[in-house]
Amino acid sequence: MKKVTFIGNGNMALSIAKGLQNEYAIEVVGRDIQKLQNFENSLNVTISKALIDNFDITDKTVILCVKPANVEEIATKLKGEAKVLYSVLAGTTLKKLTSSIPSKAYVRAMPNLAASVGASMTTLTGDIAYKEEALALFSAIGKAHWLGSEKEIDIATALAGSGPAYLALMAEALADGAVKEGLKRDDAMEIMRGLFKGFGELIQNEHPALLKDGVMSPGGTTAAGYAALEEKGVRGACMDAIEAAYKKAKELS
Ligand SMILES: NC(=O)c1ccc[n+]([C@@H]2O[C@H](COP(=O)([O-])OP(=O)(O)OC[C@H]3O[C@@H](n4cnc5c(N)ncnc54)[C@H](OP(=O)(O)O)[C@@H]3O)[C@@H](O)[C@H]2O)c1
Repeated sequence: MKKVTFIGNGNMALSIAKGLQNEYAIEVVGRDIQKLQNFENSLNVTISKALIDNFDITDKTVILCVKPANVEEIATKLKGEAKVLYSVLAGTTLKKLTSSIPSKAYVRAMPNLAASVGASMTTLTGDIAYKEEALALFSAIGKAHWLGSEKEIDIATALAGSGPAYLALMAEALADGAVKEGLKRDDAMEIMRGLFKGFGELIQNEHPALLKDGVMSPGGTTAAGYAALEEKGVRGACMDAIEAAYKKAKELS
């Protein structure tokens, strides 16, 4: 069985470990033995647990799951050179990783919030020799997609990383609109959830414009609602949101 070593025992490490536990031997490295035990208790398998001080990463497949601000501190506690370092750290460049933690190869992964329910949209970039392994690892927590550059992963982060927040705004606003017209709040929320679940399936195999055409009949209710969205500039606002988030990602990295 292949082995992966998590550095960090937080939310993202646990989400990924849950996806990998049946196919990989799991090792987790942290600074608090009780938290490492809690990590194991949240899984269905027995794992290796180790404290970070002086931990030897030589020839290991490491998945770095700490906060970006912790990288330098972590680096002082590790020894050896990893086989490959996968990093899920938002905005932490390959250059920064290379200068901080020794490894023969580096891959950046950008999962999103849905990793916690095994449905992340994860983008990846880095050493092309690890493309297939990276896709296999991160497919365990949802969809994974390889990109050719860090620029593209920053744009993709503005789309898939921040996307749950944008869709949450749409979800809440649509339910609010229904409440405004007289629907009970509980009913509006239940219907909105069903809408998003069904839409999530439909969009997998259909272009958005064709979905819209399929539901918009001449002079009908959808056409009236759709025109109201266009009048308020929702399309342009969505494009501006991606531009603003990408700009911020560049500033931060
Ligand atoms: N959550 C998401 O949806 C999401 C999405 C994309 C990317 N990410 C990235 O994932 C990374 C982790 O996020 P998270 O949500 O998993 O955060 P988290 O739950 O706060 O976990 C951070 C982990 O880092 C550990 N840590 C910090 N300093 C340490 C040190 N000096 N030695 C050992 N361990 C140390 C913490 O240990 P303790 O438990 O001992 O404090 C904790 O286990 C972040 O870089 C974030 O950018 C997260």
